[in-house]
Amino acid sequence: MAIQWFPGHMHLTQKAIAERIKNIDVVIELLDARLPASSANPMLAELTQGKPTLKVLNKQDLADPECTAQWLAHYNSQGGTQAMGLDASMAAPAKALIKACFELAPNRGGMVKPMRVLICGIPNVGKSTLINTLTAKRAAKTGDEAGVTKLEQRISLADDFYLYDTPGMLWPRIIVAKSGYNLAASGAVGRNAFDEQEVALELLDYLKTHYPALLAARFKLTGVADMTDELLLETIGRQRGALQGGKKVNLQKAAEIAIYDFRSGVIGRMTLETPEEFAQWLALGNTLDAQRQVKKDAIELDRKIRFKKIPRPDLRPSR
Ligand code: G4P
Repeated sequence: MAIQWFPGHMHLTQKAIAERIKNIDVVIELLDARLPASSANPMLAELTQGKPTLKVLNKQDLADPECTAQWLAHYNSQGGTQAMGLDASMAAPAKALIKACFELAPNRGGMVKPMRVLICGIPNVGKSTLINTLTAKRAAKTGDEAGVTKLEQRISLADDFYLYDTPGMLWPRIIVAKSGYNLAASGAVGRNAFDEQEVALELLDYLKTHYPALLAARFKLTGVADMTDELLLETIGRQRGALQGGKKVNLQKAAEIAIYDFRSGVIGRMTLETPEEFAQWLALGNTLDAQRQVKKDAIELDRKIRFKKIPRPDLRPSR
């Protein structure tokens, strides 16, 4: 799927993070609990240079609780990492976040060595909602202090706890094809950057295998598991009255309905990937990416030879 989504300000965000990270003790990575690995920015690990990380699986109210438990166990087994689930209904998330950060960086605390935390996440993951909740009781201190750029916001959660906010950031190249679809389905990507029908078909393909009963109940369907993705989309459109010219289903409208219903959680609590599945998709993505690179290198070599930038290699067997 061709997605164009790396506007200029993301380069600036990247730069701001690289600069800020030098004085950061813990990174909070806000992930979408329905697609934890796909919503993790691969550039972040590079930018954050192995700092202790708190992975927060946000919107857990929309995710399959069993899958969330699997992802939390997966992340909690990694060194220097803690993971917790969260959603907007939690009344006082600050306490849990502060506790986890002090566990990750126990040498910090007090006015001399305040805890300095950077919070990152993709667009629409719920960062503003969380920050609004965190700052509801304390006035957000943002600022014109030296070193705090316009691209970030400094919030004081306690006298010795500073949270640096960064704008939502995506990354330029997606190696795992499934991640692109899952990000689009979740609402992280602007709607002009992807094809809704393509995304809806991929989404339905996963849901019909993993959550057939929820799909059947929401759209009043029978035999979901045996339907092709195309028939499923068409049937959903028909059931919901998305018709055009006579009795033909408007597939664009049907796709929008499927995606909207998934995003809002009305179909049920669902997760689009497990740690095991993602590991397989990543391995496949890396293989395809390596093959793409070999092809690209061969084309580049051929181009250089044709334009006589380098001599053609002598491939005759040596005597
Ligand atoms: P961002 O700053 O990371 O871009 O995300 P933001 O907080 O704006 O949240 C994006 C959408 O996700 C909002 O919905 C917000 O209400 C919703 N959201 C945030 N946290 C949670 C959560 O824990 N659970 C659920 N179910 N939803 C959450 P919206 O429809 O775009 O806007 P709104 O009309 O609800 O404000």
